[in-house]
Amino acid sequence: MCGIIGFAGREEAAPILLDGLERMEYRGYDSAGIAVRGEARGLQIRKTKGRLQALADLTHGGADLEGTLGIGHTRWATHGEPNEVNAHPHVSENGRVALVHNGIIENYLEIKEHLQKLGVAFASDTDSEVVAQLLEYHYNECGNMMEAVGRCLRRIEGSYALGILCADYPDTLIAARKDSPLILGCGEHGSFIASDVTAIIKHTRDVIYMDDGEIAVVTPNGVSVFDDELVPVEKAHSQVDWDVSAAEKGGHAHFMFKEILEQPEAIRRTLSPRLKEGRVVLEGLDLTAEDVRRISRIFIIACGSAYHVGVVSKYNWEKLLRRPVEVVLASEFRYCDPLVDENTLVMVISQSGETLDTMAAMREAKRLGGRTLAVVNVVGSSIAREADHVLYTWAGPEIAVATTKAYSTQLALMNLVGLYLADLLGTVSGEEYRAIVAAAEALPGQLEQVLGHMEELQYAASRYFNHSSIFFIGRNLDYAVGLEGSLKLKEISYIHSEAYASGELKHGTISLIEPGTLVVALGMYGPLFDKAMSNVVEVQARGAEVLAVTTESRLEKMGKTAGLTAAVPDTHPVFQPSLGVVPLQLFAYFVALQRGCDIDKPRNLAKSVTVE
Ligand code: M6R
Repeated sequence: MCGIIGFAGREEAAPILLDGLERMEYRGYDSAGIAVRGEARGLQIRKTKGRLQALADLTHGGADLEGTLGIGHTRWATHGEPNEVNAHPHVSENGRVALVHNGIIENYLEIKEHLQKLGVAFASDTDSEVVAQLLEYHYNECGNMMEAVGRCLRRIEGSYALGILCADYPDTLIAARKDSPLILGCGEHGSFIASDVTAIIKHTRDVIYMDDGEIAVVTPNGVSVFDDELVPVEKAHSQVDWDVSAAEKGGHAHFMFKEILEQPEAIRRTLSPRLKEGRVVLEGLDLTAEDVRRISRIFIIACGSAYHVGVVSKYNWEKLLRRPVEVVLASEFRYCDPLVDENTLVMVISQSGETLDTMAAMREAKRLGGRTLAVVNVVGSSIAREADHVLYTWAGPEIAVATTKAYSTQLALMNLVGLYLADLLGTVSGEEYRAIVAAAEALPGQLEQVLGHMEELQYAASRYFNHSSIFFIGRNLDYAVGLEGSLKLKEISYIHSEAYASGELKHGTISLIEPGTLVVALGMYGPLFDKAMSNVVEVQARGAEVLAVTTESRLEKMGKTAGLTAAVPDTHPVFQPSLGVVPLQLFAYFVALQRGCDIDKPRNLAKSVTVE
């Protein structure tokens, strides 16, 4: 979704802004723009529709704009079509105020009508322009930009991260946030604002996470933060613990492929500090056995792939904990009047920690008295900061829109959490506990093995890449993995795909199978393997071609029936999905590659979905 960068420093701003915007391209956008304030030329604005390259070409890599103070934005259209006029920065009528905005101003129409009655002419269809015009109005009223920002923020409703320039302030940038991420960066050559740390990591790792309701004054010499009454606030600095190379392709054609390959290491980083002498140790989770015994109900709430992690975890946790676990899409949970009370544990899973639906669902759960535990990848993100407890997946920055290593680390970490809770409850035997810990320890090495054999998947992709519809079938944990395999394929290759619980086939969906249809049959879950085999035969009898994903110990049997096979090492059932998902990620990747798709930035999708 939209990206913001701002710079106040001692170097030319435009090239820094363009570079920062490029590093946030992965978030998804449809137009872009920058505003620079210079000594000689005042406020200069450039905007383009489409890819950032167009903006770079228009400004000759930023060389056309003069000044060391500026803001930049990539827009993912919500209000008004993606075009140059609706692109940010938006400028007030008299040209003195320019701003970039992420989020949605909910009462923009009411403010717009009010300003129009006062004679203000609007240029765009956006909610964001309203903030620029309102700022000018208050600035004219009080003659002080900070005061004007304070007045303006008291009038607007909704979510925002704002970067504001005023022509009368030659070296100052003002930033504000509410329900939309914004960080401040303190660098050697100046100060930054950004909606995403990747935009500024090249310049500094010294960051401050802004909280809701805060306003920051950003100058070349540093940043000062104020609350919504303009009272100064002391803020802690944090050090980002990864460097710029983690957010670069490192010689690979796509971030997605690089991130698939990074999975063993990401899982090692996530699990090994939490496995000590054969025990699961979860710092940040200070639940007592008594606390856990009081939990009568568990919800897992998330969106997209993180929801699919929840589906796997439901199967695993119910077996381990003998407690009801309900997985609910965050966008549904927030409006379904959920049955949450103080004995409810609400697990929240999110890579970005900024997904609006997930955050709203978590707030609803907290409001109802539930205890929230978030599994999040981005340190300092909103969900991480608002949850009662947080456990980080240490996947590192994930740039490709289609998640791979974040999904895998979430899955692995959820297993440790499940095991930890089961141990506190006494619902897991010592033998089972040791077997699961051993499987966790072996997982990174086994993933390396899986990644060493991609040929079958490359071959399968070359054979089926031009199919218009592909099905995934499986039972129990295999079904849960199939959901993720199907989503991966859909989002990056644009092939229609569905995942079905195999037992449901004969209740309707088998009618979709026709001669030549590809069915990806998942047969890794031991207790139901024979049934998985029967389902393969069933679809083959209707003319389907089958790519089966199974375990090494079951390969021979499956190989006699299925046309194409891929096998992953055997492990404890709770970790089998962690291995089984990898061939599906690779299959989706190779199919999309054959189809020439924009793999890292699939159409219409954004990395972090910060609007409803
Ligand atoms: O950042 P989050 O984990 O909260 O994001 C949730 C979904 O938007 C995300 O998993 C999405 O489904 C991915 N693009 C799937 O690859």
